[in-house]
Amino acid sequence: MKSVVPWGASLRTQVLIPSSPYAPRPPGPKCLYTSPMPSVSDRLRAMIGDQGPITFARFMEEALYGEGGYYSRETLNIGVEGDFITGSSYSPLFARATARTLARLGDALGHPADFLEVGYGNGTHLRGLAESSEPTLPGRLMGCDRVQRPLPGRIETVASLDNVKSDQLEGMVFSYELFDALPIHRLIGLGAGKVGELLVAVEADGSFVWKEAGLSDPDLEDLFAGQQGLLEPGQIGDLSPGWRPLYRQMAEKLRRGLLVTCDYGFPRRQLLDRRVRFNGTLACYRRQRVHRNPLIGVGEQDLTAHIDFTALMEEGEAQGLETVALTRQAAWLTSSGIFEGLAEADQKERLEAITLLDPAGMGGEIRVLVQVRDLDVDEILDTSYLL
Ligand SMILES: C[S@@+](CC[C@H](N)C(=O)[O-])C[C@H]1O[C@@H](n2cnc3c(N)ncnc32)[C@H](O)[C@@H]1O
Repeated sequence: MKSVVPWGASLRTQVLIPSSPYAPRPPGPKCLYTSPMPSVSDRLRAMIGDQGPITFARFMEEALYGEGGYYSRETLNIGVEGDFITGSSYSPLFARATARTLARLGDALGHPADFLEVGYGNGTHLRGLAESSEPTLPGRLMGCDRVQRPLPGRIETVASLDNVKSDQLEGMVFSYELFDALPIHRLIGLGAGKVGELLVAVEADGSFVWKEAGLSDPDLEDLFAGQQGLLEPGQIGDLSPGWRPLYRQMAEKLRRGLLVTCDYGFPRRQLLDRRVRFNGTLACYRRQRVHRNPLIGVGEQDLTAHIDFTALMEEGEAQGLETVALTRQAAWLTSSGIFEGLAEADQKERLEAITLLDPAGMGGEIRVLVQVRDLDVDEILDTSYLL
């Protein structure tokens, strides 16, 4: 789930209320969009017509990354004037804090640190690093995105993570709201420890509807890591089989250094806590507004779900990384030195700092998983802030 500007009509907290078993879900805003259906909807209708109901992961894949999909565009609608804001692209202060950490990483490594950002979006954070005044920055500066949006020449565009050899990078592998943009399956508790899935079907009038079915793939049970019965009858778990393999690939690239993952999410037990997230976490963003019906406005809005940080943590440790902390954005930025130089900053940047650090906003809600390979992390970060 994304952040919206504080003056946006729907704040994230309003999204969470309908997840509560104590509050009724509002009716889906069925008539929100009056423009003709984009072609991505027609393709999905044809696909469902041919194959029958499809998984929500397939639907989300097409709505975000298919032709005409939300993320398939050259310029993303991220920012104050766009659909939502993200911390790393909201203010240059974020890139400056990353640059300070990279400079310290370079000192610990004994040479300039490499930096690879996966899921760079419009490249704002990478550009901020390229323009950084930190003297030792960085070794290689690389960006890899599923949709290769243009980056300035100083930054290497990596077409696929497969093109980066394993065990090659010494520095930092970084992502911001990458994993919450991966397609998810909508799993539903059926009682007696059994799990089913919500598929997407089409009604006679062409509108998309949910259809309850058995699991489309028995391996989806692995997302619970053997803990059966985690979903109550009727409870929804929005989970992606893509989280672990992508994180594994990122971990494999790192010979020495930090793997830093900023995203909306929780440890698994909290993610699947029926008391507060009975209806899952899937949310839709458009023009700084958020709602819960992904079956409308297809291709015109962002779709996103909170991630399972336990899965990432376990995967990193299985790849030989050590977990430093699962912390919050405010703590991460503080330990990275965001306050250095803030006294001289103008009012605009000070206000941006307040938004980045706000414990009731993205400063508290964005979690940061920090894992390290083969380095003393206390040489790089003030770890006392991370706890
Ligand atoms: C929510 S946007 C975040 C963009 C940017 N990090 C920011 O904070 O503004 C998610 C980005 O992840 C990219 N993405 C999704 N799946 C990916 C994958 N498997 N590998 C690389 N990039 C991916 C999308 O194309 C999109 O640019």
